[in-house]
Amino acid sequence: MKLIIINGPNLNLLGKREPEVYGNTTFDNYFKQLQEKFNTVELHYFQSNIEGELIDKIQEVGFSFDGIILNAAAYTHTSVGIGDAVKAVETPVIEVHISNTFKREDFRHVSHISSGAKGVVLGFGLQSYDLAIQSFLE
Ligand code: DQA
Repeated sequence: MKLIIINGPNLNLLGKREPEVYGNTTFDNYFKQLQEKFNTVELHYFQSNIEGELIDKIQEVGFSFDGIILNAAAYTHTSVGIGDAVKAVETPVIEVHISNTFKREDFRHVSHISSGAKGVVLGFGLQSYDLAIQSFLE
């Protein structure tokens, strides 16, 4: 089973960024925990602050990996291009958010990803990623 977590803009600052919303753990530390927990999965990770790089990565893995776990962060709410990429590839995509975006500002209630995603996991903190991985294993 080959899965990839793709994180969008500002998620490289997890641990430092608005800890009251996103927590105190860095993604590197959390990713190591995920690799230990799901040690039968070939788990990859990619992060970019650049929209086109996220699209390139979705296209690159989207015909060979078993699953994509995508937190497009702010681009979720703005990017038709990332939404189209999710629909263009064969690999199923689970949309993930750390926070419950529906409890936050109205502009975060819109997603260009959800209509092309297999499912959506949001609001469970970093555990949202764990739950998304589990969904591919069952
Ligand atoms: C986020 C929610 C987005 O609205 C926000 O722009 C992010 C992170 C989340 O994981 O909760 O950067 O995707």
